[in-house]
Order: sequence, then structure tokens, then C-alpha cells
Amino acid sequence: MTLIGQISDLHIAQPGRPAYGEIDTGYYLQATVDHLSGLNPPLDALVITGDLAHDGEPEAYSSLARILGRLKVPIFLVPGNHDRRSAMVADLSPYYPPGSGQEQDLAPYLCGGSTVGSARLIFFDGTREGFHGGGLAPQVAAWLKGALCAQPGVPTLVFTHHPPFLSGLEFMDEPYLDSGLLAEIMGAHQSALLCCGHLHRGLATVWAGGPAMVCPSLALNMELDFLPGGGNAFTVGAPAYVLHHLIGDTINTHFCQAPGSWPFDGPFGF
Ligand SMILES: [Fe+2]
Repeated sequence: MTLIGQISDLHIAQPGRPAYGEIDTGYYLQATVDHLSGLNPPLDALVITGDLAHDGEPEAYSSLARILGRLKVPIFLVPGNHDRRSAMVADLSPYYPPGSGQEQDLAPYLCGGSTVGSARLIFFDGTREGFHGGGLAPQVAAWLKGALCAQPGVPTLVFTHHPPFLSGLEFMDEPYLDSGLLAEIMGAHQSALLCCGHLHRGLATVWAGGPAMVCPSLALNMELDFLPGGGNAFTVGAPAYVLHHLIGDTINTHFCQAPGSWPFDGPFGF
């Protein structure tokens, strides 16, 4: 049995500044870290799928590092479109490069892999700094292809920030650059679970013939709106996270909330 936690889209702001002027995301993270620390059986690892900071501020990463330091399990990170790789790596170097390390020819992309219990975890960086949408750079594609082929038959979770598939939330559905190439790569490994963030909603789907999911945001829940321009407002409630529970070859994904008395509010505009 292996238990992998996933949290996403933390949007930690500078201390004293609420994200989007509405919400103290640092408080949500502290409460969730305290909750995850007390899980029994304990987590084997925690993965954070991007948008760690709200605006890539160095102070936000320092604050995040202090809070994560309370969680005594391996932690792995991938960047999102709100992150700045240089500031992120400066404060969170214990968690970077993830697993086996960043290879020089991948720079600036941060990719890696690790084996945790019975699970193989692969992290690839599909963030294009300065752009809201994601994409697969040629060197990342080549690396990912090799990483997936390295240990066939081992239960595998592939983590990245941007989903390469459409959500139906128009504001979030910018084209994913070279999604066709990513579909080809993932389509050759259809037992691997693709685990994303970015959408601020929990979602499960089938893409390129294999399973894929989106972890909700820890604190900012996207309003479900399939009308034109939808996907540009959020509500707040209980902190949300995901548990990937491996039982043999089966990977069960549980969508969870941290306990407590959490006020519901919104919607607010992004
Ligand atoms: Fe986000």
C-alpha cells in the first residue's frame, strides 16, 4: 500500500496580503499541512502541482518553505504559470530537483522522477513562463518519453501543472502547445495516471486512451460555468486535496477536504 498526497494551486501570497484580495491562502496551507501530518497510515509523499505562489514572489516561497518544513515526508514540486522558477528554486531547493534530479539539457524546465513505495512518480514541466497556457517543449518531450519507458509495468503517476485536454471552461481552455505529441507519448503508456492542476476544480477524465485527473485548488474553487467566457470566478470553502492510494496495480484517487469549520463565500472574479 502506498499513499501519495497531491495538493495544487496554493497561490501563496506575500505574508499579510490575501490572494485576489480575498483569501489568506497561507492559512489554508497551514491547516492542510497539520491535517496531512496526522494521517494514519501516513503519507508516503506529497506532490504539489504548481501555482505554489500567487505572483512568483520570493517572500511567498520563503513562507511556503517554512510551512512545508513541518511535514516530514518527501515533497516534490512542479511549477505552474503563476510561479517563477528562479525564485521557486532559491527557497525550495530541498524539494528541487524532484527525485532523480534535473538534467542540464532540460534547462530551464524542471523535470524528474522518483520511486515511492510501489509507485513510480514522474514530474514534467509544461509551464511556459509569462503565458497562462501550457505546452510541451521538445527537450521535455524527449525526456518524458525516456522516463516513461524506463520502468514498464510499475504503477506510474505523471504529474504536471497544465491539463493538455479541454475542460469546457472557456477562460481556462487556451491551446496546449504540442498536445498532439504529449497524447502520442502518454498514449503509449495508457496505464499511467496523468495528474494535473491549473483548473481549480476536481476532475477525472480519459485522455489519449488513458486515465487523467485534475487536483482542485487548495483554497480557490473554480465556479462551474460552461457558458462562453466561463471559468473566471471562484468560491472559497474547505481546503481541498487528493489522495492517490495504490493497492497492487490499482490506483484509487480520493478527492478530500481538510476538516474544520470553513466559511463558504463567493463567487469572486479571478
Ligand atoms: Fe492556479
